Amino acid sequence: MTERKQVVRKAEFPVAGLGTRFLPATKVSPKEMLPVVDKPLVQYVVEEAVAAGIDVMVFIVGRSKGAILDHFDKAYELESELTSRGAGDDLATVRNIVPPHVTCVYIRQAEALGLGHAVACAKAVIGDEPFAVLLADDMIDAGRSSCLAQMMTVFEDRQCTVLGVQTVQPSETGDYGIVAASVINDRLSLVDAIVEKPKAGQAPSNLAVIGRYILTPAIFDKLENIPRGAGDEIQLTDAIAMLLEDETVLAYEFEGKRYDCGSKLGYLSATVKQSLKHPDLKGPFAEFLKTLELT
Ligand code: UTP
Repeated sequence: MTERKQVVRKAEFPVAGLGTRFLPATKVSPKEMLPVVDKPLVQYVVEEAVAAGIDVMVFIVGRSKGAILDHFDKAYELESELTSRGAGDDLATVRNIVPPHVTCVYIRQAEALGLGHAVACAKAVIGDEPFAVLLADDMIDAGRSSCLAQMMTVFEDRQCTVLGVQTVQPSETGDYGIVAASVINDRLSLVDAIVEKPKAGQAPSNLAVIGRYILTPAIFDKLENIPRGAGDEIQLTDAIAMLLEDETVLAYEFEGKRYDCGSKLGYLSATVKQSLKHPDLKGPFAEFLKTLELT
């Protein structure tokens, strides 16, 4: 009998971090609600997940993240006000943030003990299924097929853990989980080892794991059995290193441009790029940028 192929239906969004690089903006407002043009960062990743066929969104939230719950909920007062004003387009915008077939689940991470700890918080909801993890900080402009959709194609074929990776500068390895991998084809590699935030010069390669993962449920066992790692946090990278001992882990170099919106420079770059793609803004904004070049 042939084994039935597993399908990824659930995605996890760890949004409980403190966002210290954006203080004071993130003192009371979630970093993940920072807008790029007119949409919050977290909405971009949720749309990416919906486009990739996910229908259960699991948000790992913390204190002062209530705006994220409200954003994906119904806004009765606003909707009734927009209805009475006959503002049909605005009404559609606030009503269609997630399609009706999508279920949103919220889990509280009581302490920001790291990405690995945040991922582990969803164990009861994910159960024994493969699942995706998307970090709202990483905004990926991927064109026709989103980054997660590309990774789903790999998962459908290979049925194992897939990490989204990209090449970084040797000086940047200390900011990422870095993999040592053997090439399978032009975008896919077999991960041989993974290490969290190696110093420049000590990294096994320049292939950095960014905020897109498809993980098998075996990761939860590993997350329960790792000590605190870099930065005294429970690191997802350390659990993946353990998973490697039992299972195949692949690294996929996605097609698309990634913006690290957890940093000010990445966030500003994404804002400029998206503004230049916006149908109403691109002309006047490009004109404005030209005036800056002259000064
Ligand atoms: P980061 O380390 O980039 O985010 O975590 P941060 O800690 O919020 O930001 P800085 O470094 O202080 O500026 C990546 C993602 O993981 C989530 C964050 O919300 C972010 O989306 N995260 C991180 C959690 O959900 N829980 C944690 O304990 C840590």
